[in-house]
Amino acid sequence: MKTAFSPLSIVCIFSLIFTANANSPLIINTSNRDATSLNGQWNYIVDQYENGYYNYRYKPMDQDRGYEHNHGAYFNDYEQQDKTELIEYNFSKSPTLRVPGSWNAQEEELFWYEGTIWYRKHFDYTKKNENNRVFLYFGAINYEAHIYLNGKKVGMHIGGFTPFNFEITGLLKEKENRLVVKADNKRKKEAVPTLNTDWFNYGGITRDVKLIETSPTFIQDYHIQLKKGSMDEISGFIQLNGNDLQQEITIELPELNFKTKVKTGETGKALLSFKLKNLEHWSPENPKLYDVLLTSGDNTLIDQIGFRSLETSGSNILLNGKKVFLRGISIHEENGSRGDRAYSKEDAQMILGRASELNCNFVRLAHYPHNEHMIKTAEKMGIMVWSEIPVYWTIDWENQATYENASQQLEDIINRDKNRANVIIWSVANETPVSEARTKFLTNLIDKARSMDNVRFISAALEKHTLSRDPYIVSIEDPFAQYVDVLSFNQYIGWYDGLPDKCNHTTWTIKFNKPVIISEFGGGALYGFHADKETRWSEEFQEDLYVQNLKMLEQIPQLSGMTPWILSDFRSPRRMLPYIQNGWNRKGVFSENGEKKKAFFILQNYYLNKKKEF
Ligand code: GCU
Repeated sequence: MKTAFSPLSIVCIFSLIFTANANSPLIINTSNRDATSLNGQWNYIVDQYENGYYNYRYKPMDQDRGYEHNHGAYFNDYEQQDKTELIEYNFSKSPTLRVPGSWNAQEEELFWYEGTIWYRKHFDYTKKNENNRVFLYFGAINYEAHIYLNGKKVGMHIGGFTPFNFEITGLLKEKENRLVVKADNKRKKEAVPTLNTDWFNYGGITRDVKLIETSPTFIQDYHIQLKKGSMDEISGFIQLNGNDLQQEITIELPELNFKTKVKTGETGKALLSFKLKNLEHWSPENPKLYDVLLTSGDNTLIDQIGFRSLETSGSNILLNGKKVFLRGISIHEENGSRGDRAYSKEDAQMILGRASELNCNFVRLAHYPHNEHMIKTAEKMGIMVWSEIPVYWTIDWENQATYENASQQLEDIINRDKNRANVIIWSVANETPVSEARTKFLTNLIDKARSMDNVRFISAALEKHTLSRDPYIVSIEDPFAQYVDVLSFNQYIGWYDGLPDKCNHTTWTIKFNKPVIISEFGGGALYGFHADKETRWSEEFQEDLYVQNLKMLEQIPQLSGMTPWILSDFRSPRRMLPYIQNGWNRKGVFSENGEKKKAFFILQNYYLNKKKEF
């Protein structure tokens, strides 16, 4: 039977396909929107040879119409209807994994697994209003994700630590929606990060999944922060998404009895510029947040936003015009006692509670964007944040696709967190070897970050160099140092570079009149292992390393902060020393279970004194 398609129906089919596959612009502030969680138990199938995605000729089945109904394609989530049918998978009869969470931490047989796992979730959904739109939002999937709904490709995403969303309005049914995700955490030379890192490659749907329902035209994005250099003028924008793009938007801060209106133009965007009287500025001592109400049509979106000014003056960092010392610590996104990625508000409160006990007012969220709970919890606690993309070690600098990937990750994290007062630094790299290609790659990232957000510092964790043949004279000779606002570098004198006593013979000559942050120093210790301070891996060795390093670093006149490596022991496949490491990097001042090592008290006391000094 021939089916004659009318021209209109052909247009509808193509627009549906393009709509379904379109990578929707990021929707921000999802926690204050009409959201339905899809967290929970999802069925899963391990697919090491990607048999559910490629046919035996290694052609992707979701791009070859001939395979549209091929039941070998896991994304069809098809179940045998007839006893004669050949189907070699069945989600409903497969085991389940908890989402969010890595597969490595949930099944012993998946601990070391790197590859593809297919997830499947069935859900019903009734829209509150038939004209509304629905988006599918993922906090992150590590590392490459292909998303299908009711057998149709919704889209794909690359990057293990950044949020993304797709519009699914046209694909959604009221009953028995079949959501299928192909998650692949294989490491690749051209990826960001590349093959080699010092952290565990947790794979899977590692952050929240939710459905977001919106009106036909809604406020998708906005930037509302103090204008650079001002203490009372707000600048930014509001962006609508939909067909009715020219609207009047109301912005209100009820606590300040402030209300203003703006009109969006043809592209749905309105620029903001207005002054606020009697503004209380956000600071670690007073992490003040204001309810900001944004109204378009009969929809009001609320956000809790803090306002502060940030600038450098020579080698000083000024927050609201006052010199500040960044009492920091580096953190991996991990709940060590669960042995998995951290992903919840409770995880964030636990981790940041430890930083607070250390007397920190600052955290370096290494080496990749952390989940949004971490940023928002830190903001409420008055803890400033260094946010970083995983341009780590030996990235494929000459590869344009690698640059696009890094650039997209930077754009996504600036988009998600650009209204958070506590985020003060965007870092574009960690310990990257100096080369022309690398410096071009990184300066392009800086230009991108600055074009999106000029109210935060740009930095990167560089490496130290010895100035001359004299190993005791140390400096920063990295050409990239001239481009950053804050000069940050990692140094391991006492651990990888000599013993702790070497600190006493080392002088630093840094020729830049910029604030200096020591983005890493530290050494390993097994909690509970005690010996003399010369015995490596003992708590006493680590304690002495902290004492010597702090004394040495205090000699750097531009010192404006530090984020020692690291808050808690964390999993790493590079750390396999039996009895001591057992797959954990032991440089934490806490053990993975939250036990304090002796070095904790050295740093806690140092920061207590710094707190009194500023
Ligand atoms: C490096 C690196 C970290 C690593 C640490 C270490 O500086 O930035 O990711 O974990 O040193 O060797 O422990």
